[in-house]
Amino acid sequence: MRLAEPLQPGAHLNGVLAGFRLGGGGANTAVALAAAGHTVILLAAVGRDAMGDALLVELAAAGVETRWITRLDQPTTHSLILIDPMGERTVVNVARCEDEALPEQLLAIPAEAVYVRSRRCDLGPLLAAKASSAWVVAHLPPLETNVRPAHILVASASDLEPNALQDPLTLGHRISGGQARWMVVTRGAAGASAWSKDAQWEMPAETVQPVDTTGAGDAFAAGLLHALVNDQPLTGALAMAVRFGTEATLWNTSGLPASAVQRLLR
Ligand SMILES: Nc1ncnc2c1ncn2[C@@H]1O[C@H](COP(=O)(O)OP(=O)(O)O)[C@@H](O)[C@H]1O
Ligand SMILES: [Mg+2]
Repeated sequence: MRLAEPLQPGAHLNGVLAGFRLGGGGANTAVALAAAGHTVILLAAVGRDAMGDALLVELAAAGVETRWITRLDQPTTHSLILIDPMGERTVVNVARCEDEALPEQLLAIPAEAVYVRSRRCDLGPLLAAKASSAWVVAHLPPLETNVRPAHILVASASDLEPNALQDPLTLGHRISGGQARWMVVTRGAAGASAWSKDAQWEMPAETVQPVDTTGAGDAFAAGLLHALVNDQPLTGALAMAVRFGTEATLWNTSGLPASAVQRLLR
């Protein structure tokens, strides 16, 4: 829904329903990586409903491998997204389709990189095993101890309590069980920051007039992963990630259009 006025508690606002579109952090990142030329396998779950059918068709059309997506007797995950006049988005989750089974296929699928966009807290052993052969990049939350034994943790400042970020390295160390080499925090229009054991980086974003910030963090992740599997150093990867994120704010979609990805890579 596109709001004609800024969000304000208790207010009576006007807006326009803008229809349904593909989304979800996993899907948005997958679509951008497929557009960048990668083979992308999405491990996820959708319902046995029309929305699930539509998402699978749209993902396949974008070049994402959907064979491993399970179908469950639950409504497909969907959210209401409110876009304010500044292009900033507020997400209201309406239904979550959640698979109880662990995605064990992860270990059998050869991959250069694994991006984890999930709230589940029981993936630790699988990720730790995968981390010996692939880059593992995990989005936060969850923030529980030892739940994300990943090489890189990425958090959006807007998802966390301000005091959670007072000591990002200690936070990353705790969540990754000491595995994380880098802790990355995205900060919307302010770009992103990253910390390693012995250095800190700040990567500002270009100033733009956003149309719709939905999926900026997901595009950021795609840029980061693309750069990592192309053996770029962290500073280069961070710069590419910020460019991907900022580009995503200029489109009235949740994922980056393929043409935008191709332009970013030229
Ligand atoms: N208003 C904005 N102007 C410019 N770049 C933005 C803006 N919002 C997001 N971005 C870009 O997208 C990245 C991720 O955005 P952020 O809002 O931090 O994540 P999320 O989508 O998870 O809330 C930022 O690091 C930045 O590069
Ligand atoms: Mg944001």
